[in-house]
Amino acid sequence: MNVRNFSIIAHVDHGKSTLADRILERLGAMGERDKRDQTLDTLELERERGITIKSTPIRLQYKRPNGEEYTLNLIDTPGHVDFNYEVSRSLAACEGVLLLVDASQGVEAQTIVNAYLAIDNNLEIVPVVNKIDLPAADPEGAAKELEDVIGIPADGAIFASGKTGIGVDEILEAIVERIPAPLGNPDGPLKALIFDSFYDAYQGVILFVRVLEGTLHAKDQITLFSNGRTFDVDKVGTFSPGLVVGSELTVGSVGWIAAGIKDIHDAQVGDTVTSKDNATTEPFPGFKPAQPVVFSGLYPTNTEDYRRLREALERLKLNDAAFVFEPETSEALGFGFRCGFLGLLHAEIIQERLEREYDLDLIATAPAVVYRLTLTNGEVFETQNPAEFPTKDRIDVMEEPYIKLSVMLPEEYVGPVMQLLQDRRGVMKTMNYLGKRVELLYEVPFAEILYDFHDRLKSISRGYASMDYEQIGYREGDLVKVDIYVNQEMVDALAVIVHESKAYSLGRKIVDKMAEVIPRQMFAVPVQAAIGGKIIARATVKAYRKDVLAKCYGGDISRKKKLLEKQKKGKARMKNIGTVEVPQEAFLAVLSTE
Ligand code: GTP
Repeated sequence: MNVRNFSIIAHVDHGKSTLADRILERLGAMGERDKRDQTLDTLELERERGITIKSTPIRLQYKRPNGEEYTLNLIDTPGHVDFNYEVSRSLAACEGVLLLVDASQGVEAQTIVNAYLAIDNNLEIVPVVNKIDLPAADPEGAAKELEDVIGIPADGAIFASGKTGIGVDEILEAIVERIPAPLGNPDGPLKALIFDSFYDAYQGVILFVRVLEGTLHAKDQITLFSNGRTFDVDKVGTFSPGLVVGSELTVGSVGWIAAGIKDIHDAQVGDTVTSKDNATTEPFPGFKPAQPVVFSGLYPTNTEDYRRLREALERLKLNDAAFVFEPETSEALGFGFRCGFLGLLHAEIIQERLEREYDLDLIATAPAVVYRLTLTNGEVFETQNPAEFPTKDRIDVMEEPYIKLSVMLPEEYVGPVMQLLQDRRGVMKTMNYLGKRVELLYEVPFAEILYDFHDRLKSISRGYASMDYEQIGYREGDLVKVDIYVNQEMVDALAVIVHESKAYSLGRKIVDKMAEVIPRQMFAVPVQAAIGGKIIARATVKAYRKDVLAKCYGGDISRKKKLLEKQKKGKARMKNIGTVEVPQEAFLAVLSTE
């Protein structure tokens, strides 16, 4: 079969999108008109942040120098750990990958994690040393690292530059020669893997699939393996880019299905599509429904926006099976929603979209992980909401989620990074020396790396350390709830769950930060942190001395107006707690770096 399905994987910023563009350009898939940088990254936010969130496949025609014609399906993968499960499923739709390494940086944490995802999926790896045009490039060194660290022979590496286009011809030939053709029986029972999906207002959910076995025709009936639901297929097709309607999808092909599916939760990444009449008995293994691991409360600053917020959340959820929300009420913040995300980046993306696309002003409460509690009555209870954390006397066993963290760094920073990991309650598993660099593998409580860990790691290693992680389940831990009082009133939305050993320092950090960001009032406002009613830290927001307007001596009306307007704007992201105005920043005090 003259088809090759491949993906490009790399550490963030090693040049994946740039190289993909160069390949597209070489194969004439980018008309001059829509030739803009980073064609594969579609969402506006992706472009701005320079990260890949949604995978977009693209079908390319390649004519070899010897005249043979090939169809190449390039499947893009998300570039962030929050979406690692999606990366793994996108890879399962391929037979091979281009593994890029920046010639000036060498192997980084995500290079290793992605390479192992490819190895786990039995994929052929074509190593590409990229950015060889850089003055600091050391292509041989980078190739050698790939061999030493991952065991990929250095002599198979292609030296390339997505910027200048060097090596692109060689890469195309390697895709055809080294990556195997898809296998499978076109007449067998249908087995297609969903590796992405999106919601279209007219056609319902569009499934992105890789057909692993059998053939699917437009007008067939399909069944989704995980839930047994059956749908009538309206249309099938391929990507060119954009959706192109076809008549069938056969084994080895990468395409899309529209089957009038109304709910994206029926169409989850990793699930298997089969045909109703000729059903497979063996789904693609390892299906996991999307599991949010980070939760936060979202409240409109203006209570009248509650309905608009609900509508916006519903619309976002249509297109995002990993995002969940349910109504929540806070004494301090009123009516809002408890929302679940795949990670902090996912949370930020959703919040930004709500504010930008739906013009909502929101207060977000501090992100929390999901704790597992066994109560004294034997009940097992999972909670991510500090407000509903039971009192200690009702809890028998407390457990918190852990991750396996891999950090790659130059030797000279090992000491300070190990110190940081120890402060974060990490347990070292292994330490591998790879020339002048070191790979550290640790088990760490997820909550400990959630907030500022990445920033701290970067700053103590002068930007040289990189990291990646995966969830590994629950471990016991002594947790406590820290309550926050503003002006003697307990504010439910500010409570946090934390390991006992960190409670005092965290309480101190939160009250100090809050005292710094809460604007001065006419009276002094105490801010306190407490555990079970016992105060552990306290700070004070001092009272005003003078009226702000008094500063505008001379009665300059326009200045006065400006000042008032400025104050009004600043108010947008504030909530009144009793008589005190508390800004958004205060709710995220826990996130601030020491
Ligand atoms: P993510 O999508 O976030 O994973 O990043 P990426 O791996 O797609 O990297 P991207 O293509 O966005 O490139 C990252 C940076 O490296 C950009 O500033 C590019 O301009 C630059 N860059 C990419 N390829 C090359 C190259 O071959 N040579 C040089 N000199 N710079 C490059």
